[in-house]
Amino acid sequence: MSEKQRLFRAFKQHLEGLSALGVTAVPRGAESEAPSKLQRLAELAHEVERCRRCPLYRTRTHAVVSDGSPDARLMFVGEAPGRDEDLQGKPFVGAAGQLLTKMIQAMGLRREDVYICNVLKDRPPANRTPEPEEIEACLPFLRAQIAIVQPSVICVLGAVAAKALLGPHVAITKVRGHVADYGGIPLVPTYHPAYLLRNPDAKRFAWVDLKKVKKLLNDR
Ligand code: URA
Repeated sequence: MSEKQRLFRAFKQHLEGLSALGVTAVPRGAESEAPSKLQRLAELAHEVERCRRCPLYRTRTHAVVSDGSPDARLMFVGEAPGRDEDLQGKPFVGAAGQLLTKMIQAMGLRREDVYICNVLKDRPPANRTPEPEEIEACLPFLRAQIAIVQPSVICVLGAVAAKALLGPHVAITKVRGHVADYGGIPLVPTYHPAYLLRNPDAKRFAWVDLKKVKKLLNDR
């Protein structure tokens, strides 16, 4: 008898034994269960860390994938890591990040309950604006993050993130505060916190946008 036949016979006897005891169903083994959001995001993070699709990996300290909860109902998408984020491996931890945290809290939410990520996972040297080829190379990671987390609402921060998800011709001043559709998920663009630090007068517009995001969350 071959090894395969022996295994098959043992398995059949095991099932017959269970059946004789009145067992009609067995729980699925851990190995056959679908991976959790956390597992899928961890795999994705591993892939990002090994990524060589554009030259930015050569100058980064850390790849910056995400912060927050895999079960978040609200996802924020920024542009790219800056110096602090590159050093710590976490998005939005510098001055703009502190403002983003305040914006989240002003919405009555906790930073750890939302999901925060960027279009680019590696810092562009001297924080220059991402090149179109870098965005194209990195975008599949963002799309995968959205597909895994499946947030109820996406809030994009600034022109780079708005263009990446809505198309290269959109202007943030035109689309901010308007609800767009991203594969069935409502998406609201607003100003980037770094822009708000330079232009505090625009904070009142961002607040109107965030209230719209909150209403969408409450309605869904
Ligand atoms: N600006 C961004 O767009 N993302 C960060 O993570 C930090 C600053």
